[in-house]
Amino acid sequence: MIPSVLPTYNRAPLSFAKGEGSWLIEDDGRRFLDLGSGIAVNALGHAHPALVAALTEQAGKLWHTSNLYQIPQQQALADKLVAATFADTVFFTNSGTESCELAVKMARKYFYEKGQPEKVEIIGFEGSFHGRSSAGIAAAGSEKMTKGFGPLLPGFRHVAWGDHDGLKAAITDETAAILIEPVQGEGGIRPLPDQCLKGLRDLCDEHGILLILDEVQCGMGRTGKLFAHEWAGVDPDIMMVAKGIGGGFPLGAVLATEDAASGMTAGTHGSTYGGNPLGCAVGNAVMDLVADPAFLSEVNRKAGLLRQKLEGLVAGHPEVFEEVRGAGLMLGLKCKALNADVVKAGYDAEVITVPAADNVIRLLPPLNLSDDEVAEAVTRLDAAATEVELAQAKQTA
Ligand SMILES: Cc1ncc(COP(=O)(O)O)c(C=O)c1O
Repeated sequence: MIPSVLPTYNRAPLSFAKGEGSWLIEDDGRRFLDLGSGIAVNALGHAHPALVAALTEQAGKLWHTSNLYQIPQQQALADKLVAATFADTVFFTNSGTESCELAVKMARKYFYEKGQPEKVEIIGFEGSFHGRSSAGIAAAGSEKMTKGFGPLLPGFRHVAWGDHDGLKAAITDETAAILIEPVQGEGGIRPLPDQCLKGLRDLCDEHGILLILDEVQCGMGRTGKLFAHEWAGVDPDIMMVAKGIGGGFPLGAVLATEDAASGMTAGTHGSTYGGNPLGCAVGNAVMDLVADPAFLSEVNRKAGLLRQKLEGLVAGHPEVFEEVRGAGLMLGLKCKALNADVVKAGYDAEVITVPAADNVIRLLPPLNLSDDEVAEAVTRLDAAATEVELAQAKQTA
C-alpha cells in the first residue's frame, strides 16, 4: 500500500523535535550537530532570536494579502537586495525552483521584446541542479531527473562542466542565455574557478546573450561573500536566489538588471504567496544579519578554520576521504568510501551531513556556528570516519 506521504524521498530514520542554533534535537534528547542546515537553508541556524522575533511579530499583525496590494515588507527587502547587489529589481518566489522558472521566462521574454524571438535556448551544464519543475529538470538535463517525464520542455542544451570549447560551439543564433551555478551544490560541491566565471561573462557579452547565475545554494553568505559571483568580480544579468534568504521560511527571489528585466511588465508573471508579509519579514531579518560585512568576515574566518581542520581529517583517513573541496562554508568531502556510508556513520556520531553527486558529502553548516562547534564538527566526523574504517576492516577480514 502506498504510504500516506508520497514516497519520493529516501528518508533517514531521524526525526527532530527542536532546533537550537547549530543543533538538532530528537524527542529523546539526542543532540545532533547540524552541518546540513536543511540543505543550506538555515543560514543562521535554528530558532535564531532575531528571526523568531521577526516571524512572531509579523504573525501577530498580518500574514498574507496577495500581490494585489502594496507589501511594505517586500518593498523593504527588495530595496536591500538592490542596494547590496548588481540588481536593479527583484521578484519574490517561494523556492529555488520557482526562481528558475522566472529566470528562464525572463531571458526568453527579453529577446522576444527586443525583436529576436528566435533566441530561446538556455545553455546549462552537466551535473547542475535547478529544481524539479519542468523547466528545472530540462535545464539540468540529467537522465536521473528527466527519465519518464517527457516530453521535456524544449530549448535547453547542455555542456560538460569545464568544457570551454564545447560551450563556445553550443552558442548559436538561438541562444538566449547561459545558466550556471557558481558552485555546483547537488553536483558535488564543484566551484567554478573565478577566471571561468569571468570568461563566461565575456562570452555572453561577445554574443549579446544573458548570464543567469543560480545562487540558490551558494548565495546568501554561504561562500563568505553575500553572493558567490562577487569573488570573481563580475555580475550576472539575472540571478536565482532561495534557501538561505528565508533562513528556513520558504522564500526565494529573482534578481535582475533593469535591461534583463525589461520584458517583464505588468501581467507577465505572478505568484500568490511570493513575497508575502510573513516571508519578507523573515527575509529582512536574515538580510540585515547576513549582509553585514562583519558577519561575512566571520564566515570567512570560520570557513578557514573548518577547512584547515578538514584537511587534517582527510589526511588522517585516506581510505575514507579523498579531498576537501568547495568555498567558504559550502564544503564537500570527496569520499573514497561510499558517501552514503559516511553520512550514515555521521548519524551514529550525531553529526548531520548531506550527500551529493560525485560521491561527495556536503558540509553546509549554519553560517554563525561557533569556533567550538567547528572543532566539535571535526571530532564527530573523525568518529564517523573511524566507524567506516572499522566496517571496511571487517569486510576485508
Ligand atoms: C542550485 C539550486 N538551484 C535550485 C534549487 C531548487 O530549489 P528548491 O528546492 O527551493 O525549489 C536547488 C535546491 O537544492 C539548488 O541547489
